[in-house]
Amino acid sequence: MKLKIAVLAGDGIGPEISEQGVQVMSAVAERFGHDVEYEYAICGADAIDKVGDPFPEETFQTCTRADAVLFSAVGDPKYDNDPTAKVRPEQGLLAMRKRLGLFANVRPVETFDCLIHKSPLKDDLVRGADFVCIRELTGGMYFGEKYQDNDKAYDTNFYSRPEVERILRVGYDYARRRHKHLTVVDKANVLASSRLWRQVAKEMAPQYADVETDFMFVDNAAMRMIQDPRFFDVIVTENTFGDILTDEGSCITGSMGLLPSASTGESTPVFEPVHGSWPQAAGQNIANPLAQILSVAMLYEYFNLEAEGRLIREAVNASLDANVRTPEIQVEGGAHYGTREVGEWIVDYIRKA
Ligand code: IPM
Ligand code: MN
Repeated sequence: MKLKIAVLAGDGIGPEISEQGVQVMSAVAERFGHDVEYEYAICGADAIDKVGDPFPEETFQTCTRADAVLFSAVGDPKYDNDPTAKVRPEQGLLAMRKRLGLFANVRPVETFDCLIHKSPLKDDLVRGADFVCIRELTGGMYFGEKYQDNDKAYDTNFYSRPEVERILRVGYDYARRRHKHLTVVDKANVLASSRLWRQVAKEMAPQYADVETDFMFVDNAAMRMIQDPRFFDVIVTENTFGDILTDEGSCITGSMGLLPSASTGESTPVFEPVHGSWPQAAGQNIANPLAQILSVAMLYEYFNLEAEGRLIREAVNASLDANVRTPEIQVEGGAHYGTREVGEWIVDYIRKA
């Protein structure tokens, strides 16, 4: 297959993990005879510094020309600590989501047996937890009408029926391919927008009679996720609830540095780690490249290249089993492996497979 990939490395540890993602992508392409072409583009704080815009027009064009975007991370503390900053790296991320119509954010929450002891939850509670959060990504409070003056402020949690229908469809399609259990998370006891979600889901449910649909209030879902994470198979929810629940989901596995995500919609899909730009670690060769590398697996799988994705997952598991790990997940007394060394080990594994 011929694939054109836009590579957006961004800020902090972004460039380092991006490099390893690209190496793995290329090794797999070579192994399976795919022709991958990369086009690099700037975003985030890096792009603000260079051209004053966190998602410049040229980057947008690069993305739309590509078959997929391999994204790393954006964010820089010099903007976080300046409430008067007119433009922030995160706006680049939001602009990318909106302009590429990336309404479906898919965040799998998987546990790795050898890292379960890192979970803040008890082993036996979290072992085997395996679910997917489908977060609506271009609507709700993030993009609804906003107002702020010195005395009052509001954000509008707007959703239209087509927006709700299309994301629920993604949820149902995932549930069908998994264990046929969809949990629609909302706050229908309080919010009108949630009542629309629930109404639309109830109307759609009969078309997916093979899937068990249940409804859960978001506060209850947050609790259930730490009490009984194995309850969930596929969660579908609005933008803000999804933002919060996916952070919770990513930390209960004990392996936040290992979780990839996919954002898909109307235009080019984007694949990126769930974690952020970790600016304090930038340039130190200590960041875990696995979430980025697993994002490459999701990318291949998106194009139905299942064997390619499987080989990457196998290589990642092998690296963990061999204790080829970055410092934050290394076992006591284990050798030191940096971002680059872990990436190289995985590339080597793929070449020899
Ligand atoms: C995420 C992040 C973003 C969000 C921020 C950086 C704007 O937290 O991708 O979850 O809130 O969506
Ligand atoms: Mn978030």
